Amino acid sequence: MKHLLKLLDLKESEILDILNLADQLKYEKKNNIEHKYLAGKSLGMIFQKSSTRTRVSFETGMYQLGGQALFLSPRDLQIGRGEPIEDTARVLSRYLDGIMIRTFEQKEVEDLAKYGSIPIINGLTDFAHPCQVLADLMTIREYKGEFDGLKLTFVGDGNNMANSLIVGCLKVGMSIAIACPKGYEPDKEVLEFAKAYGDKFMMTEDVAEACNNADVVYTDVWASMGQEEEAEKRKQAFKNYQVNKEAMAVAKKDAMVLHCLPAHRGEEITADVLEQHPEIFDEAENRLHAQKAVLVKLMADDDSNKK
Ligand code: CP
Ligand code: NVA
Repeated sequence: MKHLLKLLDLKESEILDILNLADQLKYEKKNNIEHKYLAGKSLGMIFQKSSTRTRVSFETGMYQLGGQALFLSPRDLQIGRGEPIEDTARVLSRYLDGIMIRTFEQKEVEDLAKYGSIPIINGLTDFAHPCQVLADLMTIREYKGEFDGLKLTFVGDGNNMANSLIVGCLKVGMSIAIACPKGYEPDKEVLEFAKAYGDKFMMTEDVAEACNNADVVYTDVWASMGQEEEAEKRKQAFKNYQVNKEAMAVAKKDAMVLHCLPAHRGEEITADVLEQHPEIFDEAENRLHAQKAVLVKLMADDDSNKK
């Protein structure tokens, strides 16, 4: 694995290797065992959109691994004044050991990887959020022990989260159901990928049908970053796409609820469901551990000290 651009690029074994290393790093952190696998290394972090979790977890993660992280906003970089990504990629590759980028178009992330010569990590695009789904899978395995036979239901917009969850869940052997309104389906490339998995994938407009017997119920905001102008239209389109008591009543009794956060209480999730499911905050914590595993896999010189 040279980059983390999207989960479509990863083999199942590569996903499981990251999750196993993430478990190890989490154990080491909790037990104050130092793991400075990235001593002397620098990660550039380009943010074209806001972030709480991604920014803070990558920055502290690099510190805990013995390296440093540089926060680069478009206001600071010449990208913001039109310097092309192919030049930025080649120049930053001379200073840094890796780049994490959060932006709009997936092509920008792919171009950074194409023109640069260091590992590139997708910290969210309109198409995908692979780091989030690695943390989600880590959390599911912590709570449920294994992936086989589990069903995850995603309620809401067929956005970056839905796209990455479909690919991640199917690759590790889970089933996934999507409940979304017409016109807000996941990306065509992802639906094409899911076809090969037969009845392990289903999509419906009916929330109750999708949530039936689910082991994990997942949701995300109705309007993603960059879609603020569509917020009112989306409120109408998604008003029946909420994770609430009724949706949870048809899921398994011990079903987990996950949300990438930030959450809009009263929109995609009710306040009571959110507060009854503290695993959402374990999920947020696991961003740190899962991303540290990605950083070590991509940036450490010596593979021997990572299982
Ligand atoms: N879930 C997630 O990526 O959160 P941030 O937008 O706060 O980074
Ligand atoms: N779909 C959301 C996810 C935020 C982590 C967005 O893109 O804004």
